[in-house]
Amino acid sequence: MRDKIQHLIAEIREASVQNLEEVEQLRLKFLSKRGLVSALFDEFKGVPAEQKREVGLLLNDLKNKVQERIDELKAKFDQGTEGEKATLDVTRPAINAMPGTRHPLSVVRNQINEIFARIGFTVAEGPEIEDDWHNFGALNFAADHPARDMQDTFFISTSPEILLRTHTSSVQIRTMEKSKPPIRMIFPGRVFRNEAISARAHCIFHQVEGLYIDRHVSFADLKQTLMYFAKEMFGEQTEIRLRPSYFPFTEPSGEMDVSCLICGGKGCNICKYTGWVEILGCGMVDPNVLKASGIDPEEYTGFAFGMGVERIAQLKFKVNDLRLYSENDVRFLKQFDGVNF
Ligand code: PHE
Repeated sequence: MRDKIQHLIAEIREASVQNLEEVEQLRLKFLSKRGLVSALFDEFKGVPAEQKREVGLLLNDLKNKVQERIDELKAKFDQGTEGEKATLDVTRPAINAMPGTRHPLSVVRNQINEIFARIGFTVAEGPEIEDDWHNFGALNFAADHPARDMQDTFFISTSPEILLRTHTSSVQIRTMEKSKPPIRMIFPGRVFRNEAISARAHCIFHQVEGLYIDRHVSFADLKQTLMYFAKEMFGEQTEIRLRPSYFPFTEPSGEMDVSCLICGGKGCNICKYTGWVEILGCGMVDPNVLKASGIDPEEYTGFAFGMGVERIAQLKFKVNDLRLYSENDVRFLKQFDGVNF
């Protein structure tokens, strides 16, 4: 009997288990009513009287050791917090992680930044709350000029001089004020206009504007740069067309269309059956603007352009309602899973 006891002590000491279920099996094997320890207690009845004391002590020792070992193993797998005693089962399959996806507007903004970075444009940002000078005055909008109405403005109630910027041209002014040409930069950011929210307009949207100022910069440089951009963004087969337009801060001014990438120019409801879609405004920086920012227009010339990120994302991803961008509906956002940038 002593041998049996020694044998069981060794067995329990070396028992290896992987989880709580196996600990429980071990407990049943040793300590249940029909377990190994009970069986030994039964056998104990037949031990000769003079050995009872010694064997009895050994038997109790065995029982305690088994209990201790089981408690120890249990604690090892039972990692729950004090209160809940949750069970950590390391073998359970993990809950599927759901990583977020990049927002389509971020995808397009990053792509615009990257396309211009390749031809030497760096990125600058500026404040969303602006003063009248940087948003309008320095950009050649006279105080009572009707062109101010082209961009319905949100004013900060305490001052007619402080407003939410209506375009990131304000950052172009800030940049020209503090740096000397050559300047080759783009200005991504949020802009605000007092417009009713609909499928085609929103009061908050995103722009990327661009500015290139150096000696001898010409309209040909502007056209070439924008053509490069359109082909990189929409594909090699894309064609561009420039139409005359008006902005107070550029002269001459233009608007650029790209051939409709939905129908390839044949005509569809996206391009309103014209084969062309407008994507940006542009022009040669007006000498008055250069002067207002401390750059000599006799020495330097430059071009500027500005595009709406929502519009470009709409064409690229065929989004038919601008409101989808800001509603945070995961059914919409999930569709951009795996889109790079
Ligand atoms: N700032 C103009 C707008 O928001 C876009 C633009 C930028 C046009 C630069 C010409 C040159 O409408």
